[in-house]
This record gives sequence, C-alpha cells and structure tokens, in this order.
Amino acid sequence: MPRPATASLQVSATPAEVALAAAELFTESIVSAVAARGQARVAISGGSTPKAMFALLADPQHSFLARVPWASLQLFWVDERCVPPTADDSNFRMTNEAMLSKVPLPPANVHRMEGELDPAVAAARYESAIRNAFKLEGAETPTFDLILLGMGDDGHTASLFPHTEALDNMIDIVIANHVPQKDTWRITLTWPVINQGRTVAFLIEGKGKDEVLQRVLQGPYDPETLPSQLIRPSSKQLTFLLDSEAAKLLPGGGAPGTTTLELA
Ligand code: 6PG
Repeated sequence: MPRPATASLQVSATPAEVALAAAELFTESIVSAVAARGQARVAISGGSTPKAMFALLADPQHSFLARVPWASLQLFWVDERCVPPTADDSNFRMTNEAMLSKVPLPPANVHRMEGELDPAVAAARYESAIRNAFKLEGAETPTFDLILLGMGDDGHTASLFPHTEALDNMIDIVIANHVPQKDTWRITLTWPVINQGRTVAFLIEGKGKDEVLQRVLQGPYDPETLPSQLIRPSSKQLTFLLDSEAAKLLPGGGAPGTTTLELA
C-alpha cells in the first residue's frame, strides 16, 4: 500500500504550547470520531511528554474538560512498562494521576495494560481486550481514531526499541517485547497497528531530541536503528507536534509554524 511520504510538522515555541496543541488535537479527534461513528477509540503513550497535555485536559480552567464527550471515549495505551499500576514508572499511574482521576471517563472505558502480569499473558489479554472492543474477526486489526506517540532519544517509539524483536512482528496486535538495553520487558502495540490509525501524531519536545528527530525525518531509512521511521500511517498524513528546541535542526530551524516535510 503506498505510504504518504510526507509529515505535517507543527512547531510551537514552548512545551506549554505543544501541550495545548496536543490537547486540541486529542479533543478534536474525539469529537469528530463520535460525530462520525458514535464513539472514539484512542491510544495514548506514556513517558513524560504527554503529562502536561493530560493535565490540560483535566483542567476546568480550559475548554477541553467540557468539550470532550468522555462517556463516548474508549481509552487504550500504546505501551506499558511491565510493572504494577502503582509503580513510579507505570504509564497508567502517570495518566491516572494527571488526568483519569479528574475527568468523567467511565472506568469501564479505561483499558489498562496489565503490567503486573507475566509479559506474554498481559500482551495476550490486551490483544483480546482490543479484539472485543473493536469486535474484530479473524485476522482483522483495529483502526484507532487517534494514536499519540512519543519518541525516545534513541529513536524508539511506543516500546519499539532499536534492534528488538518487536520490530519484526507484523502479525500480532499487541506483543511483549524484551528490551535488553533497559534489561526489561514492555507491552506494546505493533507498528502495523499504529500505522492503521486514522490520525497518528508524535509529541516531541526538548533539545535532547533534535538530533535523533532530524535523523528520523531526514536521514537514511534505517528502522532497525530508528524504529520511529516505521511509523508512516497508510491512511493519512503523519503529524509531529514539536517545540522549537526539538525542531531546531529541521527546515525552518525550529521557528513556530506548520510545514509539510517530504520524508526520506
Ligand atoms: C514509554 C512511552 C515511550 C515514550 C518515549 C518518550 O512507555 O516510555 O510510551 O515510547 O513515548 O520514551 O518518552 P518521553 O516523553 O519521556 O521523552
């Protein structure tokens, strides 16, 4: 299937403005999905970048809390660490503290990856939870309305780390991925499922990401080393919500604004 070889780069001057842009994208994606299909199914990432966006979505001082049709949202995770939901590094815990505990999202609509379980069991259980939620049959795979991604300074996204087995898995929806460089296991959506998302957006901030972001977007295609290069949604354009620091080495030098970039 031909892949769009372009990306929309939306650069904001500061991380706070990136969080606002991300909260707007989250809200708008859900509103339009509910209008079109009666519900919205969104998969979010963890790490630190999305925290500010989650806080904005839960903040009554902003419009998002009132605009999001929370009862029509089914919330999933892109990936999770293999830790209990109470652990400091749990993506669920971060999201719960920043947002879930403050918004009227019905608990039944929160589909947590069970990081406390054996990795293979957690992956299998999450795959069946997705199959049930999307009413998938046979080899069907899910089309999320929105998938929000981060990117590590090693070029990973989701829990698709360089030179790990998950990069070769094009069959499953959810897998357990051993990450030797972190001596840990992760649960993650596979990259073909991410590419099936209606809207796929990276949130990337900070000087520490500028060099790897330039390599991902403009360097040679080498997804084993830079797994973020695997993300090229078949449906539509790929969006990068960036701050000026992360975008410094891209065309435009990190100046705020929106541009379209041809991908290598
Ligand atoms: C995770 C995330 C991961 C994250 C990147 C960026 O479980 O950590 O899903 O893919 O998005 O590591 O993390 P930061 O936002 O902390 O830079």
